[in-house]
Amino acid sequence: MIEVLPQLQVARLDLLQLFGRNAPLHVDLGCGDGSFLCQMAQQFPKRNFLGIERLTKRVEKVRFKAEKIENVRVLRADTLFAVRYLLPECSVENFHLLFPDPWPKRRHQFRRIFTRHFLDAVAAALQQHGVLCVTTDQLDYFHQIERLSGAHQQFQVVPQLSDDTVLPVTNFERKFREQGAPIYRLTLRKTSPVK
Ligand SMILES: C[S@@+](CC[C@H](N)C(=O)[O-])C[C@H]1O[C@@H](n2cnc3c(N)ncnc32)[C@H](O)[C@@H]1O
Repeated sequence: MIEVLPQLQVARLDLLQLFGRNAPLHVDLGCGDGSFLCQMAQQFPKRNFLGIERLTKRVEKVRFKAEKIENVRVLRADTLFAVRYLLPECSVENFHLLFPDPWPKRRHQFRRIFTRHFLDAVAAALQQHGVLCVTTDQLDYFHQIERLSGAHQQFQVVPQLSDDTVLPVTNFERKFREQGAPIYRLTLRKTSPVK
């Protein structure tokens, strides 16, 4: 035998144990320093908030910010891995994907997080009628997101949610607004339980 395959067993998160209660779960994918996550958690204390972020330094910032907020947890992990393997099926009420890394150069675009496989994983983790909110400043990425979303059988594009109007502004959104850059948003609702 030349190739060795590791036998990894990954357990899905026990959300009741993690948060100490049952409550609607909202997940911020690539949560950065956790500003949006923590403001949301304070604004909606009856919901549980999980941030997923792969950079250790940013995770440390979230930990610092969330120290005194009871309904926030942060997971240092890759977004696709976490959504696909760590979140229980049908457990999430709302995903936020806010200003995902844009990878504007054509040769880097394969690194973009938003793919059909990402949507498959999000659909599996979302509750029926759960929602994925996406925001970007990159027009070509937005068109790609629209195309992939329109072609996916488990999602329907819906108008922005009514409580979007009071959502906190993320650090990146503030930066882009100051530069006068346009911001593109899409809200997808899971419509079908089966693939
Ligand atoms: C452009 S920043 C946006 C941060 C935040 N959402 C905001 O709007 O202020 C993108 C964030 O996603 C994180 N990120 C990028 N790819 C990721 C991945 N595959 N898994 C987890 N985090 C990721 C980056 O480290 C970074 O913190």
